[in-house]
Amino acid sequence: MTLEWDAAEYEVVANPHVGWGTGLLEVALERRPLVGDEAAMDAGCGTGRVTELLLERLPGGTVLAVDASGAMVEAARRRFAGDERVRVERWDLLKLEVEEPVDLILSTATFHWIKNHEKLFNVLASALKPGGRLVAQCGGQGNIAQVTRAIEEVMGEERFREHFAGWRDNKEYADPATTKARLEAAGFEEIETWLHEEPTEFGSTEELTRYLKAVVLGRHLERLPEVDHQSFADAVATRVAAVQDPPVMDYVRLNILATRRRES
Ligand SMILES: C[S@@+](CC[C@H](N)C(=O)[O-])C[C@H]1O[C@@H](n2cnc3c(N)ncnc32)[C@H](O)[C@@H]1O
Repeated sequence: MTLEWDAAEYEVVANPHVGWGTGLLEVALERRPLVGDEAAMDAGCGTGRVTELLLERLPGGTVLAVDASGAMVEAARRRFAGDERVRVERWDLLKLEVEEPVDLILSTATFHWIKNHEKLFNVLASALKPGGRLVAQCGGQGNIAQVTRAIEEVMGEERFREHFAGWRDNKEYADPATTKARLEAAGFEEIETWLHEEPTEFGSTEELTRYLKAVVLGRHLERLPEVDHQSFADAVATRVAAVQDPPVMDYVRLNILATRRRES
C-alpha cells in the first residue's frame, strides 16, 4: 500500500530535494543536452518542485507528472494549473500505463519507497521510447544509516514498542552494481550508477523534527496514535542531535543514468 503525505508540509520543508534535483539534472544534461521539445515524465513528482526545474529546460516540451499520493497529485495540479505543457496523473508506478512512451523519465527521491525495483524498471522501460533516457536519484546503500539507528532505538522505547510489533522497514536502498544489473535485465543500456554522500545539516533539533515528520517518518507515524506523533519525532531528532549538533542527516544518494535499449 502506498503512503499518504502531508503535501503542504512537504512543500515547505523538502528543500534538500530541490538541491539534489538541480545537481542531478546538471550532470545528466551535461552528458546529453535536451533539445527543449521533449516529452518527459516525472515519476514520483511530489508537489512538483523538481518537476518545475525540468520544465524550465523544456520550453517547447511536455511533462507527465505522476505520483501515487492523492495529496501530492492535488498539490502538483494546483502548482501547474494553466500550464498546458503539464499533465498530472495519479498512478502507483508499479502499475503505470502511458498512452504514449516518452523521451525522458526523471525521478527524484522516490525509487527507495518502492520495494520491487525489477518490476519498477520494467514498467519504466515500457514507458520510454527506444533510445529514451532514465535520469533518477534515490536513497542508496547506506542511506541515513545513523538516523535509521536512532529511529529503531526510539521504536524500541517502552512507550512506543507495542505499536511496532511485526514492523519491517520496506525501503530499498539499493547498491550501484545490483541496480545496474536490474536495469540491464529490464532493457536499458549505456547505464551509469553511482553513490554519493549528501550529509545534510539542519538549523536546530526542532527544524529536524519538523522535517522528519513530513519526509521520513510517514510509515512510523501511521502506526502511532496522533497524540504520540510529535513526541516520537522529537525523540528521534534528539538522538540524532546527540551525535552532532546542529543535527545532520547522513543521506547517501544513488544516481542512475540509463538509456532504453534501441531496437536493432
Ligand atoms: C520524497 S517524495 C519526492 C517527491 C519529489 N520527486 C521531490 O524530489 O521532491 C517521494 C514521492 O514518491 C511518491 N511515491 C512513493 N511510492 C510511489 C509509487 N509506488 N508510485 C508513485 N509514486 C510513489 C510519494 O507519494 C512521494 O510523493
